[in-house]
Amino acid sequence: MHFDLSEEHLMIQKAAREFAQNELKPGVIERDEHQKFPTEQVKKMGELGFLGMMVDPKYGGGGMDAVSYVLAMEEISKVDASCSVIMSVNNSLVCWGLEQFGTEEQKQKYLVPLAKGEIIGAFCLSEPEAGSDATSQRTTGIDKGDHYLVNGTKNWITNGNSASVYLVMVQTNKEAGHKGINCLILEKGMSGFVVGPKENKMGIRASDTHSLMFENVKVPKANRIGEEGFGFKFAMKVLSGGRIGIASQALGIASGAYELALQYSKERKAFGKEISQHQAIQFKLADMATRIEASRLLIYRAAWLKDQHLNFDKESAMAKVFASETAMWVSTEAVQVHGGYGYVKEYHVERLMRDAKITQIYEGTSEVQRIVISRQVLTA
Ligand code: CAA
Repeated sequence: MHFDLSEEHLMIQKAAREFAQNELKPGVIERDEHQKFPTEQVKKMGELGFLGMMVDPKYGGGGMDAVSYVLAMEEISKVDASCSVIMSVNNSLVCWGLEQFGTEEQKQKYLVPLAKGEIIGAFCLSEPEAGSDATSQRTTGIDKGDHYLVNGTKNWITNGNSASVYLVMVQTNKEAGHKGINCLILEKGMSGFVVGPKENKMGIRASDTHSLMFENVKVPKANRIGEEGFGFKFAMKVLSGGRIGIASQALGIASGAYELALQYSKERKAFGKEISQHQAIQFKLADMATRIEASRLLIYRAAWLKDQHLNFDKESAMAKVFASETAMWVSTEAVQVHGGYGYVKEYHVERLMRDAKITQIYEGTSEVQRIVISRQVLTA
């Protein structure tokens, strides 16, 4: 067992750190304030290979391992969690799902431009009445021979307006329960496919979250991923990997908030000395550093298991629940360390605190992660 990162890992980490500091940091407060989608920044992320990191180079990707992806996600999330959720959905849900389970034709048509970052994708499972209870899909896909006719609504879709390709879960056979769910590839612009208004969110405000409406959208059978009825298992498998990405986002938010608090504590003076010299602050910094390191180890292990093609469902859920709760706690403490300054936008920590909250909700709430973990623990 060794805990060292390889030369290649360190290079990727450095490249992501420099990109985040130089290209994402300027303007991050304004993008958050005005909910401005980071069009230029996402284009650059695509050019630098951050949008298809783990995809085989033969499909336009970077051919990197999951640990590399985690390292890049952490650095980008330290600075701009709106950009990192766009990156995470594209890499771990859309590209990975297509690469693992798509047909060769689907890979050539959709995966190649997605992995190159020429377009971005969205993953559409949540519905007004199907969030955690993902088997209760109401969006229907009626089998019409050579195509499905899709009707329904999806909610809370990341990249909802900016995406060109959408992986949409639909119910094709209600009686069959989760075995009656399919994943279909939809394209923006298909007749009857309407993007709803943008959500006005607490955090990750520069990313575009929308509801989507489908009214008699004709989707060719060739756009179904996997065998008939594979959609729910597809979603579960993809989300299991996606949780490593969101855990890394949470880790980045926590690390970013901690680094700001550490720096501030060495500059700010109170009661005749730097606040870092007061034990009340030292204990906070010690707890922050410890929880961040524990999150990092859980995440690296889940990523390593994925790279070894071993089962990582329990480990990715553990990483996500622990890292997201750490992000919320650390960012709140970072605001406290900053005192009144922490409550104003220019010090960044209030944004990180708002951004942290969603990591406990999307790609499965903390409660869902505990369901996944406890089921595995109880059946081991
Ligand atoms: N891999 C393969 N198969 C899996 C699986 C996995 N990881 N997890 C479950 N399955 C299979 C089960 O084996 C079962 O199959 P069989 O009947 O053949 O045995 C089937 O799927 C149904 O599984 P469950 O009985 O466990 O299903 P459940 O109804 O009890 O639900 C759940 C379990 C864990 C709560 C699940 O519904 C879940 O994960 N919900 C949360 C959904 C979620 O994460 N939504 C996020 C939306 S996407 C998003 O946020 C993206 C974004 O934009 C940022």
